[in-house]
Amino acid sequence: MATPLRLLTVIGARPQVIKAAALSRAIREQFDGRIKETILHTGQHYDANMSGVFFGELGIPEPEVQLGVGSGTQGATTARMVEGIEAVLLRKAHDVLVIYGDTNSTLAGALAAAKLHVPIAHIEAGLRSFNKAMPEEVNRIVADHCSTWLFCPTTTAVMNLDREGFSLNTDHPATMDKPHVVNSGDVMLDNALHFSGIKKNSSILDGIGPTGTEFMLVTVHRQNNTDDVQRLNAIFGALMELRQRTKMPVLLPVHPRTQQRMNDLLDPSLARAVEQDQGLRLIPPVGYLDMLELERNARVVITDSGGVQKEASFFAKPCVILRSETEWVELVEQGHGELVDADPERLFGAVDRALAAKACSTPKVFGDGNAALHICEHLIRTR
Ligand code: UD1
Ligand code: UDP
Repeated sequence: MATPLRLLTVIGARPQVIKAAALSRAIREQFDGRIKETILHTGQHYDANMSGVFFGELGIPEPEVQLGVGSGTQGATTARMVEGIEAVLLRKAHDVLVIYGDTNSTLAGALAAAKLHVPIAHIEAGLRSFNKAMPEEVNRIVADHCSTWLFCPTTTAVMNLDREGFSLNTDHPATMDKPHVVNSGDVMLDNALHFSGIKKNSSILDGIGPTGTEFMLVTVHRQNNTDDVQRLNAIFGALMELRQRTKMPVLLPVHPRTQQRMNDLLDPSLARAVEQDQGLRLIPPVGYLDMLELERNARVVITDSGGVQKEASFFAKPCVILRSETEWVELVEQGHGELVDADPERLFGAVDRALAAKACSTPKVFGDGNAALHICEHLIRTR
């Protein structure tokens, strides 16, 4: 029997921990003895409700390596991660480094592995916002161009890579210079399908109106929405007004970045109003199973999160996107999402349309729910 394929999986930010659950589950259930995974956690996210909570509830193996880099400037934290990942790769041989998405942990993994000639599998490759002011856009471009396997979640992602000069031919051994671009589907769909079938005694909907379904779910954490004083105030002012207009509660699990910026940048009178408004419920970040429960039951989802946009569509919920562009263009093209930027009037209009609309459907663009299986099979076949 061939020696197992040794993966070093780098995770660090909340969505990566969640995404990693799909691959770890596929390895455990279908590739035992053929793939051996070691997980490295950079420590980019470290609060229990931003990282630790997901390991137990999603059945992800505890990371063997914890770098504990914590927070800081983009350059300093990325540099600490590169150093830590490089040390691990030098200490022990790995066949493939696995990275997810577009965070600084993704970039650090890509840089460390590429320089040591360790082949990289990039999961969620090929996405583009065409806005390089986003740290994520820089991270994903660099990661893609260092990778040996680019596992795309959608056809749009494949076409983005095609336009950047990647060959779509996989009829040759995969190398960093001649990588494989593969439309694997999205591991987030794998997870949403798998975990929404798991019953949990959740109390997350308790106290949200009489039916537990007449509420709006909001998340906001993007750098340009939280660090920009005008945008942050516009968004929270608009949420207050939206609540008055619709008479519907708004539930907002607050990302730690957003909490800090609210403390520092919200106009004091708005901050007081937000604090006193019983209908605008700010709660700490919730676990993934609770988040799925909220998404499944909300009337409308309002978000700037990439993952939450998609999950809203998986549950056929209309999504209002607090950005001027999205990497998940299919959602907008097919009417599952509407871009409103941080503009209150556009937000009100989009929410009105979402509330008036008949039930949404689920878009069929994120694969067959077995993305992790396809990724493992392709890696084994072309190692
Ligand atoms: C990061 C990713 C972003 C992703 C998001 C998911 C980058 C450049 N950005 O953004 O793409 O959508 O994660 O949530 O990698 N903080 C805490 N506790 C924590 C984590 C963060 O207090 O556990 C606070 C710190 O003050 C930190 C700030 O949040 O400085 C921002 O964290 P950081 O990881 O730099 O970026 P995110 O905004 O979380
Ligand atoms: N999520 C969660 N608890 C929360 C908010 C989000 O479990 O309080 C999950 C959400 O269901 C999705 C992922 O976190 O799976 C999205 O991560 P995030 O919004 O932090 O980052 P992005 O997807 O924008 O990179």
